[in-house]
Amino acid sequence: MRIAVFGANGLTGRLLTEQALAAGHETAAVTRRPAGFPITHGRLSLVEADVHDAQAVNRAVEGADVVLSTLGVPYTRKPVNIYSDGIRNVATAMSRHGVKRLVVVSSSATEPHHHADGGFLMNRVLQPLITATIGKTTYSDMRRMEELVRGSDLDWTIMRPSGLFDAPGVTRYELHEDQAPGIFTSRADLAASLLEQATDVRFVRRAVAVTTSDGAPTLFQLLRREAFKTR
Ligand SMILES: NC(=O)c1ccc[n+]([C@@H]2O[C@H](COP(=O)([O-])OP(=O)(O)OC[C@H]3O[C@@H](n4cnc5c(N)ncnc54)[C@H](OP(=O)(O)O)[C@@H]3O)[C@@H](O)[C@H]2O)c1
Repeated sequence: MRIAVFGANGLTGRLLTEQALAAGHETAAVTRRPAGFPITHGRLSLVEADVHDAQAVNRAVEGADVVLSTLGVPYTRKPVNIYSDGIRNVATAMSRHGVKRLVVVSSSATEPHHHADGGFLMNRVLQPLITATIGKTTYSDMRRMEELVRGSDLDWTIMRPSGLFDAPGVTRYELHEDQAPGIFTSRADLAASLLEQATDVRFVRRAVAVTTSDGAPTLFQLLRREAFKTR
């Protein structure tokens, strides 16, 4: 199978690229910065593309059987459009080339809800605060992306992780339709869950929450490492 990975140079994207290659797939890593890409492999091709550039996206999608996206930007108070504009260009290119399977990363925060594992701090303080302030523009654009994907005639799946953290390997992650009780997802598990969708039709035309329990940090550790990280 030939897989095109958008966001391949990101933290999750690199793991996904490695996992796809290890699983025997031809993998096209799509990045704005191919020169700095750290993975080399006989079945890997590097494709330079900014997702706002429709022609470059078109070239990146051509020949793929499946498109997986881990595109993202850090929290910002400025308007965000990478998720919606980027995936619009990807979906248009897929339709043009007859590619049907699309799996995108969104977030559990696009649909804020009570997390059974969240406690007062997560459910009553952090989630409302982050979704109304530093995460507001990101989650608005993720919702636009979700709407666009749902309105397409592609075989789509929307993956919704919670707080991302780095872990040494893939664990027994959980998948739940729409929402999950957990509040953490390791990037290795997120990557594995995306790759799983490439060959599994169970969640076609569905949103799926993906969560990790094994090795998850405390809420305080996660916040310190991820939510206020600047790059
Ligand atoms: N942090 C959390 O707790 C959390 C929670 C839920 C969901 N998420 C979502 O999970 C996903 C993965 O997160 P992550 O931390 O692994 O992401 P990340 O390291 O920030 O990687 C995102 C990648 O997107 C690519 N990108 C950004 N703008 C682009 C553009 N205009 N054109 C082409 N590529 C572009 C970048 O690749 P290049 O450098 O190659 O351009 C970047 O490496 C993101 O969608 C994030 O929003 C995060």
